[in-house]
Amino acid sequence: MPEKLICVAGARPNFMKIAPLVRALRADGRFVPVVVHTGQHYDDAMSGQFFRDLEIPEPDYSLRAESGSHARQTADILRSIEPILLDEAPAGVIVVGDVNSTVACALAAAKLQIRVTHVEAGLRSFDRRMPEEINRLATDAIADLLLVTEESGRRNLLAEGVPEQRMRVVGNLMIDTLRHNLARSAQSDVRERVGATGPYGVVTLHRPSNVDGPEQLREILAALGEVAREMPLYFPAHPRTRGVLRNAGVELPAGIHLLEPLGYLDFLRLMSGSAIVLTDSGGIQEETTALGIPCLTLRENTERPVTIELGTNTLAGARRDSILRAWAETKANPKKGRIPPLWDGQAALRSVEALREYYDGAGAQTPARA
Ligand code: UD1
Repeated sequence: MPEKLICVAGARPNFMKIAPLVRALRADGRFVPVVVHTGQHYDDAMSGQFFRDLEIPEPDYSLRAESGSHARQTADILRSIEPILLDEAPAGVIVVGDVNSTVACALAAAKLQIRVTHVEAGLRSFDRRMPEEINRLATDAIADLLLVTEESGRRNLLAEGVPEQRMRVVGNLMIDTLRHNLARSAQSDVRERVGATGPYGVVTLHRPSNVDGPEQLREILAALGEVAREMPLYFPAHPRTRGVLRNAGVELPAGIHLLEPLGYLDFLRLMSGSAIVLTDSGGIQEETTALGIPCLTLRENTERPVTIELGTNTLAGARRDSILRAWAETKANPKKGRIPPLWDGQAALRSVEALREYYDGAGAQTPARA
């Protein structure tokens, strides 16, 4: 009798990681994936469109997590997932990434002694001002099986005292999704719709530290305005960012074209034709490395160092001068980069193997939480 694994998806960057995993679990048959959408992201453009683009089955459960403060959102997800865990009595819960849904569902499951698998474990920015860093630390501390995307994740976990047998380096599920969809994305007409013909850049911004204060947002936009004198920039804006732009009356410099949030296939099409990407996203640092497109990360740190060491990513900081310096360097000497190990489109298969090994082996008998 196949055992149930609850797969949690809550916010936009989760959907690309859940999609290949659910597909691989179904194909394998050893487990039955039960998809729970926490509703952390709820707009069609941030959620429903991704389910359609990525052909993720309709969630078995759709919760309606509150927006609002971190405490309210996390508490609301904790409360609403618990009865589902009790009803379904799954063999395990799989959480992905570092959003509030990740930590909330991991915590609810661990307290019920349901085994937790964390996909994308071990990434660390070493910046505890980032809410995601707290989510990563807390989730990894209580997860039983840690599936790791890059070598730095394994090193960080070992340095935190996590025993080697709790982790597996499986590669990057998000890159499985990218490889699976690259050809399909060519059918998107987004470039024609927005008028992106000659060389252009793509911008995304949504980190609270970059967008919640209008002054900081203006500082970044001043740099982007300089870049936009040389090539148009297309900027699909996250609802958080759009709210600040609107409420604080922040003007966009000429040459920056504000767009609605794009679905997965449209965004991949826009990004894959761009000359440069300027972003504060985590996942886009990885996707640009996989595509070989130079990426300027508008942050002081990254939890994904392999994108800098091997890939096309450069940390540009979030000040006007540092961004412009990085832009000048990139123009003079664009990073070519190479694909990090195990970013080969097979991470979901390795994840299912790791789950099988864990559940069929010693892990099933002894709680791994040391
Ligand atoms: C969340 C994640 C972040 C991730 C990002 C990707 C946490 C702590 N943060 O941040 O790690 O990089 O998702 O997008 O979990 N909103 C809408 N429609 C939506 C979703 C959100 O209007 O579909 C609004 C919310 O009401 C809120 C704001 O956008 O006012 C921020 O949403 P929230 O989920 O709190 O955090 P994100 O900034 O999206």
